[in-house]
Amino acid sequence: MEKQKANILKFKEMKQQGKKITMVTAYDFAMMSQVDKSDIDMILVGDSAAMTMMGYEGTVQINLDTMLVFCQAVANAGKHTFLVGDMPFMTYEISTEQAMTNAGRIIREGRMDAVKLEGGERMADTVTAIVRAGIPVMGHIGLTPQSAAQLGGFNVQGKKLQDAKQIVKDALALEKAGAFAIVLEAIPSPVAKIITESVQVPTIGIGAGNKCDGQVLVIHDLLGLFDRFIPKFVKRYANLGADMQKALNTYSAEVREGIFPDKEHSFTMPQDLLQQLTAELQEEGIL
Ligand code: KIV
Repeated sequence: MEKQKANILKFKEMKQQGKKITMVTAYDFAMMSQVDKSDIDMILVGDSAAMTMMGYEGTVQINLDTMLVFCQAVANAGKHTFLVGDMPFMTYEISTEQAMTNAGRIIREGRMDAVKLEGGERMADTVTAIVRAGIPVMGHIGLTPQSAAQLGGFNVQGKKLQDAKQIVKDALALEKAGAFAIVLEAIPSPVAKIITESVQVPTIGIGAGNKCDGQVLVIHDLLGLFDRFIPKFVKRYANLGADMQKALNTYSAEVREGIFPDKEHSFTMPQDLLQQLTAELQEEGIL
């Protein structure tokens, strides 16, 4: 049976029914074609594309125009999966007008179903404004990679009492502002549990334990396609990097040894036509 595309009401219902929501990142047509055929409920065209697709050390380098290219490629394949587009660094922090304009571009030009932005209480007014414009917003708190410099790196958040309290307050502020779901990144599992039990909207964890309403992983991490560093919370479900190496080296060896391309992968022409071609080329002194 073909997968039914979910929506924000469905995600709330899933939380109420205790059904886990599954999410991965996706950035391109080929990968999204596979995700769309799978059981995954929702994807994120994450600004992690800066790292996984472009090789930067962090996420702040990617701009909106580049993100839109990834969104469009994913939208071309994502017919049965709810699509969330990340708002890149400095495309929503300056003013609510700026945030609304750019969220609108992600929906209209990027053909996403919703946007995601980082920040809790400090972003509540912005979330409210975008939601009022009719655009579903996913929040993202805890470790917010766009502020990694301010947080002192990609570290677990909420380990101290005041920090944990602030993350809970951030979640409540996002819910009040109208966010339809909240990503909890790299926080202690008990803090994620408190949040999940305190808000009506689904929490989507990444490094936040198994009490969240759903989970998200960066697709390159779970498929074994990114080995610059592997965070503690990543579980590898495949080793496609090794499979790719094997395929590339076999291809390379077969080309060098004249094994590929064989008859099956080549085109031929009728013998009489070939004879005529050779004869004419000889006549013209080309052969
Ligand atoms: O950009 C991204 O991939 C993300 C996820 C880690 C949630 O924000």
